[in-house]
Amino acid sequence: MYDHQSLILGAVLVAAAIASAQSTPALKDAYRNDFYIGVAINAAQITGQDQRGDALIESQFDSISPDNALKWEKVHPQPDKYDFRLADQYVAFGEEHHMFIVGHNLVWHEQVPAWVFHDAQGNLLGRDALLARLRDHIYTVVGRYKGRIQSWDVVNEALNDDGTLRQSLWFKIIGEDYIEKAFQYAHEADPGAQLTYNDYNLENPAKRKGAVALVKKLQAEEIPIDAVGIQAHLRLDSPTPEQEDAAISALEALGVKVAITELDIDVLPSVGYGPTADVSLHVRQDPKLNPYVKGLPDSVQQQLADRYAAFFRVFLKHRGALSRVTFWGVTDAQSWLNNWPVAGRTSYPLLFDRNGQPKPAFQAILGVASER
Ligand code: G3I
Repeated sequence: MYDHQSLILGAVLVAAAIASAQSTPALKDAYRNDFYIGVAINAAQITGQDQRGDALIESQFDSISPDNALKWEKVHPQPDKYDFRLADQYVAFGEEHHMFIVGHNLVWHEQVPAWVFHDAQGNLLGRDALLARLRDHIYTVVGRYKGRIQSWDVVNEALNDDGTLRQSLWFKIIGEDYIEKAFQYAHEADPGAQLTYNDYNLENPAKRKGAVALVKKLQAEEIPIDAVGIQAHLRLDSPTPEQEDAAISALEALGVKVAITELDIDVLPSVGYGPTADVSLHVRQDPKLNPYVKGLPDSVQQQLADRYAAFFRVFLKHRGALSRVTFWGVTDAQSWLNNWPVAGRTSYPLLFDRNGQPKPAFQAILGVASER
């Protein structure tokens, strides 16, 4: 009986949340003439198990990115085995809702199985063999969604913070032209797709310089690169909106599109790692690092809202060059920042709270759209 009642109560709450999502003004409408408003969606949302999340995605956003569904380890877990079950549902979701569909990602040093770089005996592959694997992967994945995924993050996070190229196995085995090759293969597989280089911390001048040099090199070699993705994993205290402005301006000047691809603003105490989104970083749990378990104080909530507003003013200034602004998750409950770089924290980086309700930051961003 009790279970039955709580099931009904649960269903009523979800229905109320869905109705409220549908009656809230939409970000995608407020910015319709400027850029897409995107969101990263997870497996529960792709498969319809998170109805409250889906109601927000459908009503607020007109572009989607997959948080994990298209990564190498998911779609190509073994040498002769592709698994497109979740990825197919992801693309179908975007098509059903007429969204701009992003593919994330083709080449990265994370979430790529170890077999990719080794032969059957466990020895490291040579350049030609790894290039053949890369081509097979890109042709198969991009080819499957040709004309249906509009934009691909072809290469993700290839740069170090000082602007040099990361010594990943891609780099070590193939050499620095693995980046050119990846773009070339992606273009061959779907000549109509927008091809993007995506990285974090491009607000840092040294790293940005590396990105600018990389884009110029590809352009000089006539390699098709259409856009640069600024991930924008921001904090409350850094970078400044002026630094974001400078980053967008520097990339825009190259004649490529710029996309804000993974936006969130971390309000939790920093653990002395500086601005990064390096997923290999892990820090020990400590209650001092997790101060808002019972809720976010109003003053911090307001700081978050003001900061989102300040960054959206910068984005609007660059509306001609920006193709989209994508948030890295729908609600705070779903954010990767609950588990990085410290596991099990209560994080508040997004626009909707743990009950799917819009936060002051949401209203602030809507407000910026109507300042014009
Ligand atoms: O799928 C397993 C599950 O089987 C297991 O029970 C569970 C236990 O930890 O882990 C699950 O895998 C997790 C995976 O997300 C799916 O939820 C991994 O541990 C976790 O590390 C992984 O995190 C993802 C992270 O990339 C790792 O690289 C985040 O969801 C994803 O949002 C994040 O996204 C990256 C972008 O791709 C690139 N830029 C940075 C951004 C944030 O880290």
